[in-house]
Amino acid sequence: MSTVKLRVTRGEAGSEPAVASYEVPYRDGMSLLDAIFWIREHEDPSLAVRYSCRSANACKECSAIVDGKAGFLCSIRAQAGSEVRVEPLTGRPWIKDLATSLD
Ligand code: FES
Repeated sequence: MSTVKLRVTRGEAGSEPAVASYEVPYRDGMSLLDAIFWIREHEDPSLAVRYSCRSANACKECSAIVDGKAGFLCSIRAQAGSEVRVEPLTGRPWIKDLATSLD
């Protein structure tokens, strides 16, 4: 079975961030947000991420830094066999894990 490895920043405001690694089963067309949903469902429901529209690039709540570049988790496709670094946006107050303040 193909997988995607995600290395995700974990922690919350006031704490030292850490990096957690997850291996997610790959399926055709899955987005990085889909991979994060899989982690929340199967490994750790406490993994925080913002989202609303889930696929339309409309809400922009799922913005994050992916391999060093800003993008929307719901529109970036996962690649089978790849390893991806996912971090919260910079320049916004950090709340928890991948969630930053929208204010
Ligand atoms: S969840 Fe709305 S743009 Fe990604």
